[in-house]
Amino acid sequence: MRILITGANGLLGGFLVPELANNGHTVLATGIGPCRLSTADWGAETNYASLDITDAMAVHDNVTAFAPDCIIHAAAITAADDCELDPVRCWKVNVTATGFIISAAQNAAARLIYISTDFVFDGEEGPYDEMAVPAPVNYYGSSKLAAEKAVCSSGLPYAVIRTVLVYGHSDNIARSSLMSWVRSKLSAGERIRVVTDQSRTPTYAGDLAVGIRLAMEKSVTGLFHISGGDMLSPYEMAVMTAEHLGLDKDLMEQVNADTFSQPAKRPLRTGFVIDKASRELGYRPISFREGLVLSLNPKPM
Ligand SMILES: NC(=O)c1ccc[n+]([C@@H]2O[C@H](COP(=O)([O-])OP(=O)(O)OC[C@H]3O[C@@H](n4cnc5c(N)ncnc54)[C@H](OP(=O)(O)O)[C@@H]3O)[C@@H](O)[C@H]2O)c1
Repeated sequence: MRILITGANGLLGGFLVPELANNGHTVLATGIGPCRLSTADWGAETNYASLDITDAMAVHDNVTAFAPDCIIHAAAITAADDCELDPVRCWKVNVTATGFIISAAQNAAARLIYISTDFVFDGEEGPYDEMAVPAPVNYYGSSKLAAEKAVCSSGLPYAVIRTVLVYGHSDNIARSSLMSWVRSKLSAGERIRVVTDQSRTPTYAGDLAVGIRLAMEKSVTGLFHISGGDMLSPYEMAVMTAEHLGLDKDLMEQVNADTFSQPAKRPLRTGFVIDKASRELGYRPISFREGLVLSLNPKPM
C-alpha cells in the first residue's frame, strides 16, 4: 500500500516508518522542515517530504501528488502544557489542520488513520475501553477529541487509534522521557519526587507502530485502544527503571500529582483495556519490563 504519514519526525514516526517500509509498503514520511529520521536503511520505496499540515495548499498538493491509499495522521502539538499556554496554536495544528488532512484524503479517496490519546478521558474511571465516554480535562485532550469527531463524521473510511504514554528509544528524538529523567537524576545522586496517584498503561512505540500497521492492513473501521498491558503509576515505572539500571531507588520520594502545579491538568487514572485490539487486530504488546530493556539498552545502529 501507498502510505503518507504526517508528523513523521516525532517519536512514533521513528518506529512507524521502518515498520511500514519493512513490511513491503511504499511510504512518504512527512514532517515540518528537514528530515530528522535515520534514513540509512531506507530503500527506494521510502521517501521524505517537508510538510507543515497547517498549510492547506501544501497538504492538498502533497497528498494529490503521492496519491496514497492511506494517510496516517500523527502530527500534533503533543505537549499538554504547551496546548494550555497557547490554545490558538494548539487548535490550529490539532483541529483546523486535521480538517485539511480530511479534505485531502477525500480528494484522493484515501483511508485515514488518526492517532489520538487517553487524554480525551477525565481519568476518573480508567482503564478505559472504546465504549467509554470521553470528557477531557485539558485543552490538548479537547483538541484531540474535536479532531476525532471530525474524522469520524468525515464519511471517509477511517480508524481512530488512541494510545497512552508512548515511550521508546529513537535516535531522532532528543526529548526527555520519564526513564531518561530517572537515569540522569539518580546517576548524579540527585533526589527526585515521583507521582504515585496517576495510572497509565505505557505503550512501547514499536508496539504502537505494529498495531497501526495491523489496523491499516486489515482495513478496520472505528475506534481502537492500543497501549501496553501493564497498569502502572509513574512511581512504579521509575522504580522499575532504577532497578533495571542498578540505581538507588531510595533517592525517590513518593508524592501525589497535586504536589506539582502544571498549566494543564492531568487525568489521574487512564490506561486502556486493549481486548478489542487483541481480538480484531491480533495486537500483542510486550511488557513494560521488556520495553524498558529495549528503550534503555537500544541495539547499536
Ligand atoms: N507521545 C505520547 O505519549 C502520546 C500519547 C498519546 C497519544 N499520542 C499521539 O500520538 C501521535 C504521535 O505523537 P508522538 O509521540 O510521535 O509525538 P511527537 O514526538 O511530539 O510528534 C509529533 C510530531 O508532530 C509534528 N508537528 C507539529 N506541528 C506540526 C505541523 N504543523 N505540521 C507537521 N508536523 C507537525 C512535530 O514536529 P516537530 O518535531 O518538528 O515539532 C512532531 O514531530 C500524536 O498525534 C499524539 O497526539 C502521543
